[in-house]
Amino acid sequence: MARFDGTVALISGGARGMGASHARGLVAEGAEVVVGDVLDDDGRAVAEQLGDAAHYVHLDVTSEADWQGAVKAAESQFGPVNLLVNNAGIVMYGPITDMDPDDFRRVIDINLTGTFLGMHYTVPSMRRAGGGVIINISSTAGIMGYATIGAYTASKWGVRGMTKTAAMELGRDGIRVMSIHPGPIRTPMTDDLGDAVAGGQPIPRMGEPEEVTKLLLFMAADATYSTGSEWVIDGGALLGPIIDLPTE
Ligand SMILES: NC(=O)c1ccc[n+]([C@@H]2O[C@H](COP(=O)([O-])OP(=O)(O)OC[C@H]3O[C@@H](n4cnc5c(N)ncnc54)[C@H](O)[C@@H]3O)[C@@H](O)[C@H]2O)c1
Repeated sequence: MARFDGTVALISGGARGMGASHARGLVAEGAEVVVGDVLDDDGRAVAEQLGDAAHYVHLDVTSEADWQGAVKAAESQFGPVNLLVNNAGIVMYGPITDMDPDDFRRVIDINLTGTFLGMHYTVPSMRRAGGGVIINISSTAGIMGYATIGAYTASKWGVRGMTKTAAMELGRDGIRVMSIHPGPIRTPMTDDLGDAVAGGQPIPRMGEPEEVTKLLLFMAADATYSTGSEWVIDGGALLGPIIDLPTE
């Protein structure tokens, strides 16, 4: 029996990057997966590659109707959802003094409100499933500050905090809720950053989506006594800069 036999997963932002990697990793280990995104062509292509165990739905995470539709599609295609990955996210750059307030609201709407809506509309299905796991994708920007991405940082601190509330509210329903905090990972989101962004880390390279997927699979399947917890996967970025001190 495969590790994820009987798992029905719903992944937001699954059309590319880390979300697509999670979909591939879960299906490879026996899960049935609904991929949701606003990039319909890319999302459909991911689902088609994965065959009968995957299904694509148009899911704008800011839309309550889309979330309701995604959960309904998952239930009719595969059954109640017992794994939710709130992965959809965007980043916008600009100092607080310069950022257009509408851009700030947009980042919060997708990254934070989208995660709230995902939990809000999926938990009833998870209760029908008899329990499950929710994994919210935060960031190292949910643990430390970064200049020029104030909206993103606010949203990811929010995701980290809300994860703890959800874990407290849902533990008695057999639902574990955790956050993942990636450092720089090589995806379309980081295309224009380049490897230099990771050069000062103890592991001086960008991470690959599949490395995050391996962690996510462990959290979902094996970390059965963990909830409300923060899982950092960042090449050591959060340790801070390496300062050259005398060696003797
Ligand atoms: N790449 C990194 O270095 C990094 C680091 C830390 C955290 N993250 C987080 O990981 C998650 C995945 O990011 P990624 O690096 O794979 O980026 P990505 O841009 O490749 O993928 C993000 C996906 O989210 C989708 N999306 C955007 N807005 C949406 C909306 N309104 N509704 C539904 N889907 C929407 C995009 O279409 C895309 O498919 C994000 O939450 C991101 O903030 C990324």
